[in-house]
Amino acid sequence: MRFSITYMNISESKLAEAFRDVGGHLECAEIIRENSSNKNDIREIALEGVNIKNKKIIIDLGCGFGFFTQALCNRVDPGAVVTGIDCFGEYSDVYFNLCKKCGFKGKFNNSGVDALQAFERNCVDLILSSYSLYFFPRILPQLARILDTSGTCVFITHSGSHLKELYYLVLKALYKNGYKQLKTLPYDELVNNFSGDNGYRQLSEHFRSIEKKDFINELIFSAQATEKFLQYFRHKKSFLVPDFLINDYKIIQKVEEELINHIIKTGEIRITKDDTIFICTNPIKK
Ligand SMILES: C[S@@+](CC[C@H](N)C(=O)[O-])C[C@H]1O[C@@H](n2cnc3c(N)ncnc32)[C@H](O)[C@@H]1O
Repeated sequence: MRFSITYMNISESKLAEAFRDVGGHLECAEIIRENSSNKNDIREIALEGVNIKNKKIIIDLGCGFGFFTQALCNRVDPGAVVTGIDCFGEYSDVYFNLCKKCGFKGKFNNSGVDALQAFERNCVDLILSSYSLYFFPRILPQLARILDTSGTCVFITHSGSHLKELYYLVLKALYKNGYKQLKTLPYDELVNNFSGDNGYRQLSEHFRSIEKKDFINELIFSAQATEKFLQYFRHKKSFLVPDFLINDYKIIQKVEEELINHIIKTGEIRITKDDTIFICTNPIKK
């Protein structure tokens, strides 16, 4: 079977750009961990019941620094090969170090999702992807092609209402500062691409069996944690502020003022951070 080459489209690559900053990404993960109301490890819940021991060829798609790969530590067969795929080579060192620490053979490919084309039909036993599929749901047919008939895909993604309070605070600040015509923000594109709300329908075109698990969570920032909250916002800024305003220092300042005023007035802010896990088997080969 032949596949056409798929390059990242412009909006896909613009939205992904926030993740080029490895340090910022790690910092943001720490903020999420510290400020989550749900202290369970979503990766543990995602992998519950998945027989990891018999998986030899494993991919972590949109791996970043290896958040999902890390959950395989002390779980995989010593002969397993885990390939992290990302569009930023900046993650390579941190990814290799993680695999070394976990004691399995790691590979890293920075060609982005185009790297999937090099995988043979039915050759992968386990595909993991956390908080990444919304950048490239177009590759679902590729995943169904390369996944072994007895293989498993585990996807972690955001729910449709993820970050809604932050989203509306930003929209309100932009409205107050003259951008009354704005009805949507860049983040809508990601949620529309793939989320806990529309994911099942999309996946059912490519997998015969899908299990869905909801992970209910909130990010809670007290007024004392305002600086952390701002740091979190700055990391998410390119999803929440339209492209044409992203370098407008004055507007960003106004948005941040709105966020600070809100947290001071209410004493804390609670932001919906519900996620969804999809476990897919029985790939449909097209
Ligand atoms: C929200 S981060 C998630 C990273 C990691 N899976 C985690 O859970 O922390 C999204 C990741 O997808 C990567 N990404 C975005 N577009 C991509 C593409 N076209 N191909 C491969 N990776 C991509 C980004 O570089 C980033 O590392």
